[in-house]
Amino acid sequence: MIRDLQKQIDYCRGVSPLYGDIFQTFLTFSLAHESGEGDPQLVPFFKALDAVRAKRVFVSWIEVPLLLAGALHHLALIGKSPAMAGYYATCGGGYEAKERDALARTIRQTLIDFPDEITSFVRDNYVQTNETGRGLGWLLPLLSRWRGPGQDIILVELGCSAGLGLIADHYGYDLAVPDGRWRAEGSPHFCHKIEAIDAGYPRALLDKMPLLRGAITHRIGCDHNPLDCRKTADKDLLEALIWGDNAPRLERLRAAIKTQIPFWQNGSISQVRGDIAAAVPALAADAAALAQEGALIFFFNTIASCYLDNAHYARLKAAIEQAFSGPLGDFECLWVEMEMPRDNEALPDFAQDHEVLLRRHECAARGVLETRYFGATQAHPHTFWLFDG
Ligand SMILES: C[S@@+](CC[C@H](N)C(=O)[O-])C[C@H]1O[C@@H](n2cnc3c(N)ncnc32)[C@H](O)[C@@H]1O
Repeated sequence: MIRDLQKQIDYCRGVSPLYGDIFQTFLTFSLAHESGEGDPQLVPFFKALDAVRAKRVFVSWIEVPLLLAGALHHLALIGKSPAMAGYYATCGGGYEAKERDALARTIRQTLIDFPDEITSFVRDNYVQTNETGRGLGWLLPLLSRWRGPGQDIILVELGCSAGLGLIADHYGYDLAVPDGRWRAEGSPHFCHKIEAIDAGYPRALLDKMPLLRGAITHRIGCDHNPLDCRKTADKDLLEALIWGDNAPRLERLRAAIKTQIPFWQNGSISQVRGDIAAAVPALAADAAALAQEGALIFFFNTIASCYLDNAHYARLKAAIEQAFSGPLGDFECLWVEMEMPRDNEALPDFAQDHEVLLRRHECAARGVLETRYFGATQAHPHTFWLFDG
């Protein structure tokens, strides 16, 4: 835990003074506790935390620090800790480094007042986010293949979290494109830049986007822990794990959750619990059962397959290849990934040195998946580069 907190502190430098100081406070308290010279009033908190750590295996070093910070943010968001709320922009507060000592005192008091709430948050939750700003990562490659109105689309998102990516065609966009601006109404609203060699290409794709809304008939998500924002606990978790100094991100999440509600009400969105590789045959069967003749079956994932080791990723790829050439063989099929480059991936020169790549896989002759690098962006996108145009 000491090393994990130290890593978070290093990460926060220049990124988040508030979270840097929150992790520093946990580190100071933990070091004192481990040396036997800790604050006696913090003993119940550390006892409860030790009990959680003895029972639950945390697979990644990021989990405990982020869940502890999330627990404090959660208490502020639900109104239980007005003192902590004062430091979070998401709660109307703010933070400056000169308040470090006062922040540490407030955290201490919060740990004393809420040891069970904080440690049960760590015990019961996984670090899970759903970034609403990744939509263009699948929309642009989809638009490059969609034939237009008259061709229905069935979306299948692998690693969908709360499924907020599945409705990105209903979000608003104000985009700087090579030949000017391109706008679409919707909420939340995103400003991105799109670059392409062919200055007219982004606009040619985007002009079809408003028509997509009428063509996407089903939106199916798969995740090993799907979150359902109609449930308070799931919505609260997503909110709490947004860092409390990033109020716009929380606003975007809340707006996306609102936009998603009608999709739940009209039954056009659904979620499946499962491993994204193992679930492919069942997802393909669902899509085939729902699809009309001529439909486009569109699988995609954004920052999800990067969590699979190479053998697991190979199973995912093989499962999709089999589905596209077998049960979905009568349909046009496309699989798009917005993911970090893989360690064993041989990239063409033009795709080198990008944080995140947009891969477009299609079944060519004899059912073999062929991969094309469609573009690139960042994990939290601000610019999209299109290699095709
Ligand atoms: C970083 S989140 C990204 C969520 C969403 N795609 C986005 O862009 O905001 C990764 C998601 O993939 C899911 N995930 C990771 N590995 C998975 C697997 N093997 N099977 C199912 N879901 C998985 C996680 O539960 C999590 O919801």
